[in-house]
Amino acid sequence: MRTLKVGIIGLGNWGLSHLEAYRQLPFVEVAAVCDANPERLRSAKEQYGITNVYADAQTMLNQEADIELVSIVTFERNHLQPTLLALEAGKHVIVEKPITTDPEEARQMLAASRQYGRYAVPGHLLRFEPKYAEIKQIIENGQIGKPVSIYLKRSRENGLFATYQRTHTVFELMIHDLDQAIWYAGGKVKKVYATGRTVTGAETPEILWAQLQFESGAVAVLHSNWMTPDAAGIAINDYTEVIGEKGIVQFDTNPAGVQVWTSSGRSTTDVSIHHRQNGRVIGCLAEQLNYVSQCIIYGRNPDWISFEDALHGIEVADAIVKSAAEGKEIIL
Ligand SMILES: NC(=O)c1ccc[n+]([C@@H]2O[C@H](COP(=O)([O-])OP(=O)(O)OC[C@H]3O[C@@H](n4cnc5c(N)ncnc54)[C@H](O)[C@@H]3O)[C@@H](O)[C@H]2O)c1
Repeated sequence: MRTLKVGIIGLGNWGLSHLEAYRQLPFVEVAAVCDANPERLRSAKEQYGITNVYADAQTMLNQEADIELVSIVTFERNHLQPTLLALEAGKHVIVEKPITTDPEEARQMLAASRQYGRYAVPGHLLRFEPKYAEIKQIIENGQIGKPVSIYLKRSRENGLFATYQRTHTVFELMIHDLDQAIWYAGGKVKKVYATGRTVTGAETPEILWAQLQFESGAVAVLHSNWMTPDAAGIAINDYTEVIGEKGIVQFDTNPAGVQVWTSSGRSTTDVSIHHRQNGRVIGCLAEQLNYVSQCIIYGRNPDWISFEDALHGIEVADAIVKSAAEGKEIIL
């Protein structure tokens, strides 16, 4: 198998996770990284031995002609510029979730991907998490019949809210479930009603509920919150249930985590998203990067994941923000 050279733009917490996950793929070389913050670049050099580091995306793309795939892992609100630059330079891109917080920007990204003939892959990694993907397969097999009701709950630790309130909860957290709901329902949303609550007075709600009606007739209820107390030691506490005309499929991530009980309390280790184990990185981020890299090497379309669906997710998210602010139903 030939080597695929990749670059990363945005080397914050999650950009480093991309770096770690790529580095364990024997057919991938992280050829260069870019971050506006010099501290991040220094640690990439010192900790990971990456010598080609850049403070500016355009310079990296000009200098690194051999790079074929670029991960865009900048702040939620500035994915557009590096994505367009990379596509224009002839690179395939993985754009972290939320691909953007503005539907118009998502349309521009999709248009550029088509114009330059390069893949734009949204970072919706749950499509590569075996339990979520199993539900899709069960739906596709016809085992539970046509989906009529979808319930997706996502709870994260309170402490994370300090960082991620920089982006509305629908774009930061619920966007995962919007992509899942669109994937499972297999179509477009036509109507949205949402309501949010803040308990600290933050601009972004810590608790958000959204009810969606799909063109297919399916309904979905999504609930995202940042309310798990840090001391509870539960990093991920999510629930998924799809009711079809002939059956139900569901799972709960909390009991599936590895529970550690000590004299200082309880903690739950999640091994499904991104986890270091025995010198390896496991989880669905690594699965996704592996899948996309192999698709590029073998010239296959990475169609397990869809930028069109991600764009629709941003349109629905935008309607959720409006509905929660105005207290009324929004028709898409
Ligand atoms: N899929 C997931 O489960 C998951 C998990 C965490 C974060 N994310 C997403 O990853 C993205 C990054 O999140 P994070 O937690 O790593 O944020 P972060 O704040 O830790 O890092 C962002 C980095 O991007 C850099 N940056 C911003 N604009 C830049 C530009 N124009 N050029 C170069 N560098 C730039 C910043 O200097 C910073 O180091 C967000 O979209 C976030 O939602 C996804």
